[in-house]
Amino acid sequence: MSVKPIRVAQISDLHIKAPGKLAYRRVDTAQALSRCIGTLNRLTPAPDLVVISGDLVDTPTEQEYQHLTGLMAELKLPFAAIPGNHDSRDLMRRAFPDHAYVFPSGALNQSIELDALDLLLLDSSVPGKPHGELDGPTLEWLESQLSPSTHRPALLFLHHPPFLTGIGHMDRQNLCNAADLASIVRRHPRVQLIASGHVHRAVLTAFAGVICTICPAPNHAVALDLAEFHAPSFAVEPPAFHLHVWFPGEPYGTVVTHLVPLGEFDGPYPFFDAEGKLID
Ligand SMILES: [Fe+2]
Repeated sequence: MSVKPIRVAQISDLHIKAPGKLAYRRVDTAQALSRCIGTLNRLTPAPDLVVISGDLVDTPTEQEYQHLTGLMAELKLPFAAIPGNHDSRDLMRRAFPDHAYVFPSGALNQSIELDALDLLLLDSSVPGKPHGELDGPTLEWLESQLSPSTHRPALLFLHHPPFLTGIGHMDRQNLCNAADLASIVRRHPRVQLIASGHVHRAVLTAFAGVICTICPAPNHAVALDLAEFHAPSFAVEPPAFHLHVWFPGEPYGTVVTHLVPLGEFDGPYPFFDAEGKLID
């Protein structure tokens, strides 16, 4: 097993529009992605990979994907992307001709080996619908990917959360066949993380005995409305992304997820002076 940590940055829900268009007439999602890419490029040590967990564009159109790929050209790190409910599988295949999607048509699943770690990227999108579902071929593929090994740690990524957040209008469009995913995950204890998006907020729970996260967005957040007091709403809260760090160890190592705020901030400043004394 590798002796070095493996770092996977996850960004989610970019919602890139045509140039000059704001999301919901208010949010400059292109500017938000550029700020996000700036933060990713400044990370030291650099992540081994960036995973984009869906909703890369907004409506979706070819022009939006062209805008997206132009913005992504500034990223100095390798990246992989899976669709969300705002994406088009066909347009994504055309936008990323070099990406190793497993099926020649249908779901855009990917398997990526990062040294001692297996990443399985699952397409939970349902064309034309807001909710998510892992289709039959994707579930069979996931089982076939997890079965050959019992010892390699695996991280799963998909757009739609397989659990309820308490935000009603989002919960009604989450992963509708979460039980199918749970039964596979329970058969394979090497699954160490299930990382999703869709809700534009940092959320954490346990699902089928595994840590399960929702990654915040670089732009707007779905409003934290846990009692349906409001119509579905968004708020421009501090944007962020997730940095998942896998540390080696037995039997499967440890995954630690950091929340990385986006922007330029004061610091870092040392705690100690040149003599090693705490600065007070
Ligand atoms: Fe979504």
